[in-house]
Amino acid sequence: MRRTIVIILGLFLALPATAFSAKMGSFKYEDFKKPKNCGMCHRQIYKEWQNSLMSKSYTHEWDQVEYFKLALPHSQKLEKVSGVKAGCIACHSPLAFLSGDIPPKPADQDTRANEGVSCEVCHNITGTSEKVPFNFSFNVEPGKVKRGPRKDAVSPFHSTAYSEFHKSAELCATCHDEQSPYGAWVKATYREWKEGPYSKEGKVCQDCHMPKAPGRSAGGGKERTDIAHHYFQGSHSAKQLSGAVDVSLSGAQKAVKPGEALKFQAKLLNGKVGHPIPSGSTEERMLWLEVWAVDANGQKYPVPVTKKGFKGEEYTIADSSAMTYQAIGEIMEIKDFKGLKRDGDVPDGARIFRHPFFDPKGRMTICQWYTKDNSLVDYRIKPRETKVEDYSWKLPANLPKGKLTITASLYYSQIPSSVGKFFKLPESEYQPILVNKAEMTVEVK
Ligand code: HEC
Ligand code: HEC
Ligand code: HEC
Ligand code: HEC
Ligand code: HEC
Repeated sequence: MRRTIVIILGLFLALPATAFSAKMGSFKYEDFKKPKNCGMCHRQIYKEWQNSLMSKSYTHEWDQVEYFKLALPHSQKLEKVSGVKAGCIACHSPLAFLSGDIPPKPADQDTRANEGVSCEVCHNITGTSEKVPFNFSFNVEPGKVKRGPRKDAVSPFHSTAYSEFHKSAELCATCHDEQSPYGAWVKATYREWKEGPYSKEGKVCQDCHMPKAPGRSAGGGKERTDIAHHYFQGSHSAKQLSGAVDVSLSGAQKAVKPGEALKFQAKLLNGKVGHPIPSGSTEERMLWLEVWAVDANGQKYPVPVTKKGFKGEEYTIADSSAMTYQAIGEIMEIKDFKGLKRDGDVPDGARIFRHPFFDPKGRMTICQWYTKDNSLVDYRIKPRETKVEDYSWKLPANLPKGKLTITASLYYSQIPSSVGKFFKLPESEYQPILVNKAEMTVEVK
């Protein structure tokens, strides 16, 4: 009896990491129309989608590198992660997964896998198999019926059906939340949004990422006041990032003397993002605050943040001597691989707002599928949260008299530059993007 319960419980616990309802190989590519077909009438939406990462979710260079150089070989070497061979593709190229084209041909072979998260993926989704969706748990029914937000849409090309699901955050959750084979939540944008203030106010993902404007969704379609745009702008958009967090500096000292301590605070308010910043692929995202002082002669000094003393804080303060990401060498079988710089080129002493992930050997990793634990520290800025950072800088004894300017610049990067350079990615993939900045001055007497 006891053993049965244990076995049943065991099955139950093992289930979530593998649960999915979109069945691999249950359809053929030909069951789905190409995005170009939809674009003949839905011209504007097609263009927006093409400019978004959704159309590049398979072909985008970093996605290709991570799948073909890391995840795929790893899946063939380590039984525990064998599921990611198909799993990555289920979200990044759902048609390839549904057609059983696993692994798909690399992007340069120009197969239909390249369509990525296409029109037909989202508009044939009928719902989810999970109460709280994650890990590609969407149900798909390809065919004549296109599901969407309208009750009165009439199209000469396809039937339409009203779908409450398309107006909900749960649609997005099917791909935006993910559990690793080790049971760690390695993507949780929906769950984070759900526990934050915006879900309570009824503001869903679509409100920010698919903003409405007057127009027509198709040539020959009705003129409407609130057409849903398909921008899907996230952190790859400098425009979306710019000003996403407010930064201010304040301190009591107006005049200072060389040798004394200058104390001040930086405040960072996330007033615009519906979930923590960063979110999504947090294993590789960094948001950091660089503080510099410039004296009357134009000489620049870095100002390090004051430690607060919380658990895991060392991962949130840039340290150019910290090496990690050794899993890359392990997977690629590189002899004597020492790892890469944990914080890329972020200057020493800068505060990093991030959520570090750790592999089964306890090393910080960018391999989300090889993540066993990420509970040590989560130092991101939650929706409507203000983080306060303290600075106490001992002024150099030879500081010239005159104006001393303190600037605090908040930067964002997709991938640590050390990882980007290692894989020879285009610089645009890891270049720091300025989110916001603040300045204050004091007089040196
Ligand atoms: C021949 C033109 C044409 C083509 C091709 C076409 N559509 Fe449409 N579609 C329309 C029109 C017209 C409407 C109605 C617009 C309205 O009422 O505002 C529409 C509406 C829709 C809607 C809204 C449905 C609802 O109930 O909210 C979706 C979703 C949609 N199309 C998806 C697609 C997809 C996916 C494709 C490609 C497989 C496609 N369409 C191809 C003309 C077309
Ligand atoms: C079928 C899976 C799937 C669904 C459903 C889905 N997404 Fe995504 N989304 C992805 C993938 C995969 C990427 C990452 C693309 C890449 O890595 O190149 C992504 C990326 C994004 C980005 C980041 C873009 C950037 O520039 O950084 C945003 C924003 C986004 N999705 C919003 C949404 C919203 C809002 C919804 C629901 C309306 C949604 N997604 C539904 C798979 C999906
Ligand atoms: C990631 C999922 C996703 C993808 C990919 C996607 N759509 Fe949509 N689409 C949605 C959602 C969600 C809505 C409803 C948004 C809302 O009303 O808030 C929508 C709405 C629409 C509408 C109705 C617009 C309106 O306001 O009347 C049309 C038409 C449409 N999509 C066509 C397309 C076409 C064509 C493509 C490919 C070029 C496409 N969609 C790609 C999720 C998607
Ligand atoms: C109140 C507006 C708002 C809401 C609601 C919202 N977002 Fe965002 N989202 C943003 C802004 C602004 C950014 C750009 C800053 C950033 O990258 O965090 C962003 C970024 C993202 C990114 C890129 C994250 C990264 O750091 O790579 C993804 C993915 C995303 N959102 C998905 C979603 C999903 C899924 C939902 C719903 C569960 C959602 N968003 C709800 C405003 C919003
Ligand atoms: C449950 C769906 C899902 C699965 C499974 C999944 N991804 Fe993703 N992936 C996403 C979404 C959604 C994003 C976008 C998050 C964001 O914008 O921060 C993303 C982002 C990425 C990025 C970052 C792209 C960039 O430009 O920074 C890479 C690389 C990536 N995925 C590779 C993989 C690999 C390799 C696997 C398999 C080990 C995998 N993904 C499994 C949904 C998924």
